[in-house]
Amino acid sequence: MTELNKFVILWCFKGGILEPYYKTDKCKLYKCDNLELMKSLPGNYIDLIYCDILYNTGKRFNDYDDNLGTPQEAILWYKPRLIEMKRILKNTGLIYMHCDFHLSHYIKIEMDEIFGYDNFIDEIIWYYDNGGGRSKTHPNKKHDNLLMYGKTIKFTYNLDDIRVPYKETSGYAKGGITSNSGKQYSPNEKGKNIDDVWLIPIVNPMSKERNSYDTQKPIKLLNLIIKSSSNKSDIVADFFMGSGTTGEAALELGRKFIGCDIGDKACKISQDRLEKLMND
Ligand SMILES: C[S@@+](CC[C@H](N)C(=O)[O-])C[C@H]1O[C@@H](n2cnc3c(N)ncnc32)[C@H](O)[C@@H]1O
Repeated sequence: MTELNKFVILWCFKGGILEPYYKTDKCKLYKCDNLELMKSLPGNYIDLIYCDILYNTGKRFNDYDDNLGTPQEAILWYKPRLIEMKRILKNTGLIYMHCDFHLSHYIKIEMDEIFGYDNFIDEIIWYYDNGGGRSKTHPNKKHDNLLMYGKTIKFTYNLDDIRVPYKETSGYAKGGITSNSGKQYSPNEKGKNIDDVWLIPIVNPMSKERNSYDTQKPIKLLNLIIKSSSNKSDIVADFFMGSGTTGEAALELGRKFIGCDIGDKACKISQDRLEKLMND
């Protein structure tokens, strides 16, 4: 056996070739452990990674088990995955790790180590005033945390694509501002840069958007992320795909999509959802 043959056999054995669960020219879905998939992908390959990760609530949802042990055990599980995410991300790429208070601080520290403190860009707060937790002992928990890192400081940010209207009371909404020194500041006709607190309702059970997957995220959230942080034809990846919300937003916005989930139901719903979109 030649050295080359040995190498090829060893590579396949190590999981170098992974067959997609579903594949078109616009998307590839994989049903496997995301670490296995990421290890098989080339470096410097993905433009945007969004992952709605296991929050480690300790709950056993119908569709998946959200329990990785103590926060320290959870971080040991995440560490090799974060290292792979950094490796496969393009130098101009961005990553959003979507988590909540259970792990956000632990993940931030790990990402500072892996991606570099200087490559931390922002923490988006997704605030939902419907659904979520109710309490009598502390304020209601109504937000998630999205930690946003670049691989370098040269990342994509399409500010104009997600501008929002100026507040009615702002001077810009009334035509512009003049400083004490007389300098004029005109409004941008497309509106102002978005703030980093996003008020978006969770997908309620009566909503048209709702599918049957636990912890489905709103398409509006993904639209903002994908529009602002990638360009047409870019590759967007979600390694905790669930029901394929990221895939739907990516394809609708003219991006390509790589998705991965370990669960049968997640892969089936995602395939149906993306197929429907592409056939409509
Ligand atoms: C919070 S859910 C994602 C929900 C999704 N954002 C949506 O809108 O439907 C997290 C997903 O990660 C998947 N998951 C957990 N561990 C995984 C692993 N090691 N590899 C791939 N997927 C995994 C779970 O099966 C679950 O579907």
